[in-house]
Amino acid sequence: MQIQVKRWQPEDAAALAALFGGVDRGFLSDRLPNPYTRQDADFWLSRVQEREGHSGVYRAIWAGDQLVGMVSVDQKEDVCRKDAEISYLLLTAQWSRGIMTEAVGQTCVAAFQELDILRITGQVYDANLASRRVLEKNGFVLEGAMKNAVFKNGRLYDLCIYGKQKEQGS
Ligand SMILES: CC(C)(COP(=O)(O)OP(=O)(O)OC[C@H]1O[C@@H](n2cnc3c(N)ncnc32)[C@H](O)[C@@H]1OP(=O)(O)O)[C@@H](O)C(=O)NCCC(=O)NCCS
Repeated sequence: MQIQVKRWQPEDAAALAALFGGVDRGFLSDRLPNPYTRQDADFWLSRVQEREGHSGVYRAIWAGDQLVGMVSVDQKEDVCRKDAEISYLLLTAQWSRGIMTEAVGQTCVAAFQELDILRITGQVYDANLASRRVLEKNGFVLEGAMKNAVFKNGRLYDLCIYGKQKEQGS
C-alpha cells in the first residue's frame, strides 16, 4: 500500500473529523472527543501549528486522496523534556497492510531530527498486540509494564512502556 506521511494543513479539518468516525477506540484514551466534531478538529490543528517542529511532530497519513491515519510525537515538559510520547491511529479498514509500521518509522526519524529529545516513549495496553508489533518493528524496546494501570470499557489492562533511544549521530 502506497502511503504519504505529510504535515497537517488547516484545510485537513473535515478529513480529520471523518477519520475519527472510522477508528476503533477500544485501545484509545477516553479523553478523545466522541463524537469528534469539525470544531474539535480545528482546535487540534491550531495546536499542531503552534507546536510543530518545536515541541511536537505531527503527521497525517494519506492513501491517495483519503486521510487514513495519523501519528503524533509530543515532547514532554520539565525534567522529562528530553522524552516525547508517540501516539497513532489508523482507519480500521486499513489495518494489517504495514501502513503504521512505515508511518511510525518516518515520524520517529523526523522527531529525532527536529526536536531536542533523546528518547521516544510508547505506552500500549498489553492486549494491543498490533500496536506493540508496530513499536517493536521500529526498534522500540519493552522497558516494563504497569500492572492494572488502565481501566477501559469495564476491563483492566497492564500498560506496557516501550522506549526508543536516539541513535548516536542522528
Ligand atoms: C495499532 C494500529 C495502529 C496498527 O496499524 P497497522 O497499520 O495495522 O499495523 P502494521 O500492519 O504496520 O503492523 C501490525 C503488526 O501487528 C500484527 N498484528 C495485527 N493484529 C495482530 C493480532 N491480533 N495479534 C498479533 N499480531 C497482530 C501484524 O501481523 C503486523 O506484524 P507483522 O508485520 O510482524 O506481521 C492499528 O491497529 C490501529 O489504529 N488500532 C487502533 C488505535 C490504536 O490502538 N492505536 C495505538 C494506541 S497505543
